[in-house]
Amino acid sequence: MAMKIENIDKLRIVNYPTPVLLKVAAPVETFDDQLAALVDRMFELMRLEKGVGLAAPQVGIGLRLFICNATGEPDDDTVIVNPRFVELDGAEEADEGCLSLPEVTVNVRRAKSVVLDAQDLQGNEARLAAEDLPARIWQHETDHLDGKLILDYMSPADEIANRRAIKQLKDDYRAAKAR
Ligand code: NI
Repeated sequence: MAMKIENIDKLRIVNYPTPVLLKVAAPVETFDDQLAALVDRMFELMRLEKGVGLAAPQVGIGLRLFICNATGEPDDDTVIVNPRFVELDGAEEADEGCLSLPEVTVNVRRAKSVVLDAQDLQGNEARLAAEDLPARIWQHETDHLDGKLILDYMSPADEIANRRAIKQLKDDYRAAKAR
């Protein structure tokens, strides 16, 4: 999809319930300077918020791409474009947060090890494997590309614990829209 993104350096992280976060994102078809600039801006925003992963819909762009870095070391910066899981093995529960859901924590059961096919920033195909934290991040971020959030995994206890924070996010969104 040849999508013109205006003012890439002004993109910012959007919070739930911004509609782009709840939609299935479109495949990346054009691997150009604009895509590279989008990824640069996403790394900037992720570092600023001390996150370990960020998906394009979280900066308002409905494209199937995410970035991640499980350690914070520059060498571990990873760009994943058009991911498709080919293996999901084992299961493990852990608490997760999300940069688009400040103050919300949900216990999520995820596969412990995964294999995925994806493209890099130049469009080259690769098969990648991960386990534990990177595997969890890949699953969390790929969910974002399908309009799925940690809210979709809440137990009744999580719903109670997060009720206030979710209401606040909805109120903030409504107030911002009304301005
Ligand atoms: Ni997230």
